Amino acid sequence: MTLRSVVLGVGGYLPERVLTNAELAGMVDTTDEWIVQRTGIRQRHVAATGEVTSDLALAAAKAALADAGLEAADIDLIVLATATPDNTFPSTAVAVQAGLGITHGAAFDVQAVCSGFVFALATADAMLTSGRFRRALVIGAETFSRILDWTDRTTCVLFGDGAGAVVLERQEQPGTRDDRGVLTSHLRSDGRHKMKLYVDGGPSSTQTVGHLRMEGREVFRHAVGMITDVVVDAFKATGYGPDDIDWFVPHQANRRIIDASAVKLGIAAEKVVTTVDRHANTSAASIPLALSVAAAEGRLKPGNLVLLEAMGGGFTWGSVLLRW
Ligand code: UT7
Repeated sequence: MTLRSVVLGVGGYLPERVLTNAELAGMVDTTDEWIVQRTGIRQRHVAATGEVTSDLALAAAKAALADAGLEAADIDLIVLATATPDNTFPSTAVAVQAGLGITHGAAFDVQAVCSGFVFALATADAMLTSGRFRRALVIGAETFSRILDWTDRTTCVLFGDGAGAVVLERQEQPGTRDDRGVLTSHLRSDGRHKMKLYVDGGPSSTQTVGHLRMEGREVFRHAVGMITDVVVDAFKATGYGPDDIDWFVPHQANRRIIDASAVKLGIAAEKVVTTVDRHANTSAASIPLALSVAAAEGRLKPGNLVLLEAMGGGFTWGSVLLRW
């Protein structure tokens, strides 16, 4: 027998306000046509004044708990991925913990920008399968609207706000690749690229929050290679291949990166879950949000083999292969 982290539920939350490409075209020198053609993005959600990352995270966490049929008291671990915390500290995870009304267990944040959810999932999986914790909420939540330079057309059109969460439970499984739960995870970082996608502020450097800066073309150039490398690692570790995958749920940054990755990996287009058109790039929230959409639409079913991957600032990148 082997301990596995099995997904019991998933949930998402998007702020009410939708910002369309047409509206952005009235703010900066851009067009709906350019944004759609270069990125596949048509709209994004933006948090309301006073609505903070932990508000989004809490709503997604409650939705995931309801989907799992569990109470907040059943959770003993909260791992929250964000690059846009409510405050420098304490962690946004403890705000969610307080919002859920629980005082037991542990809660902390993970910072790996757009790869955050994959890093958080791998972290929670390690903590559950070590036997130390029983049930985890793994959350990706972001309010990138707060760190965008709304006069910079090269970045402000790309991102959106949102949150997604999954509930994981430690379960004994037979110990084969047919098990339910997380089967393998592969995390990578290369800090030589740290200035290609970064925020030009922070508590220790400028004592300000700063704005997102990106060499888009440079990020794009590395993205597909990095993504496919860690997916190949997941295939090698499990013996599964592209034809075995039921759903490919990539980080949602750019439609062109998603499509090129799927083609390079040999994953059929109809197996790719895409939400970038509706959500834009919600960083650490994009994968759990996409999972919540696929589940709500009845596509994602227990037993499905699901491949997750992400790449982002740092650079950081990683993959998780799991059976739903
Ligand atoms: O979450 C993980 C990290 N993020 C990513 O994965 C993003 C990776 N990068 C990308 O998705 C793409 O590089 C972008 C969507 C950011 C840009 O697409 P691109 O095809 O690489 O365009 P580009 O940067 O080469 O720019 C082409 C032209 C430039 O004009 P010139 O120099 O050719 O005259 C830009 O100034 O498009 C111009 N441009 C715009 N035009 C209209 C840049 N932004 C805009 C805009 N509207 N919003």
